[in-house]
Amino acid sequence: MTPLKGPDGFNQFYSEMYGERWPALKEALLAPKKHVAILNPFSKFKFQSTPLHVSGISFEHDVRESFPQPEKTEAGYTNYYLMDAASILPVEAMDLHPGERVVDLCAAPGGKSFLMALKLKNQGLLVSNDRSAARRARIHRIFDDYIPKTEQKINTITSYDATKWSLYQKSNYDKVLLDAPCSSERHVLEDSKELSMWAPGRTKAIAITQFAMLASALDIIKVGGTIVYSTCALSKLENDGIIAKLYQKRAGRFELIHKEFSFGEPTEFGWQVLPDTTGWGPFYLAVVKRVR
Ligand SMILES: C[S@@+](CC[C@H](N)C(=O)[O-])C[C@H]1O[C@@H](n2cnc3c(N)ncnc32)[C@H](O)[C@@H]1O
Repeated sequence: MTPLKGPDGFNQFYSEMYGERWPALKEALLAPKKHVAILNPFSKFKFQSTPLHVSGISFEHDVRESFPQPEKTEAGYTNYYLMDAASILPVEAMDLHPGERVVDLCAAPGGKSFLMALKLKNQGLLVSNDRSAARRARIHRIFDDYIPKTEQKINTITSYDATKWSLYQKSNYDKVLLDAPCSSERHVLEDSKELSMWAPGRTKAIAITQFAMLASALDIIKVGGTIVYSTCALSKLENDGIIAKLYQKRAGRFELIHKEFSFGEPTEFGWQVLPDTTGWGPFYLAVVKRVR
């Protein structure tokens, strides 16, 4: 039988993957998105009311149904950065320390690079890479709007193809974030044109690129260093499926580090935040430590 495409194919594919959970998950994906505001310490802004913290997240932040658009303060820097709370978890999972050499392989628009810059405190190296010139411009804008130039001495923005990076550099970084391009089903569901073009081959094709990026990341990290692999995909092919493939193709070269967070749920190899139970995400992450 020819696999279904478009909205019906999408429904069939994800209901087979998530079973009875799919209707609630789909409803949650279509609900208005919540944001968390990460305080920019360089702006000297203070939240007016006591911030409602999601426990276990170390950046000073506030969670509300809606926020005014971020704006510059008298100090000259933008007051906060809005993101999905689940997007903070990969940076927490990296366990960054000032002085480390870090690369954000797929960095644009740059929210996670901004958080990493706060953790590194201008000591070590932060390479924020993205292949798209238009999207790299957004990383430049975020750095300039949020961080004083004198606090950006360790920041570099590069334009390499993450799937091929290891051809040029090996064993060079302490930590890598691979926040990979993915199926982004939430956006597909919100966009009728995208949904009409959806086909099951799409997630399989993206998974091939994601694996190439992860294999490259394993070569550029030092032995003992860690990679956080993350996506905003629902498709398991792009999440645990990528780690399963790493076990097949790179056995003996890595081990997984299991992390737990205050929201979300464990998966076979990592951690997932789904909106039906948490109101955040979708988001998936796994922590890979290079051992050889
Ligand atoms: C999920 S987004 C990253 C979001 C980002 N980490 C953040 O927090 O703002 C994935 C990014 O990967 C970039 N990308 C896609 N293919 C790439 C490749 N082969 N090499 C490097 N970057 C790539 C895209 O341009 C896109 O900006």
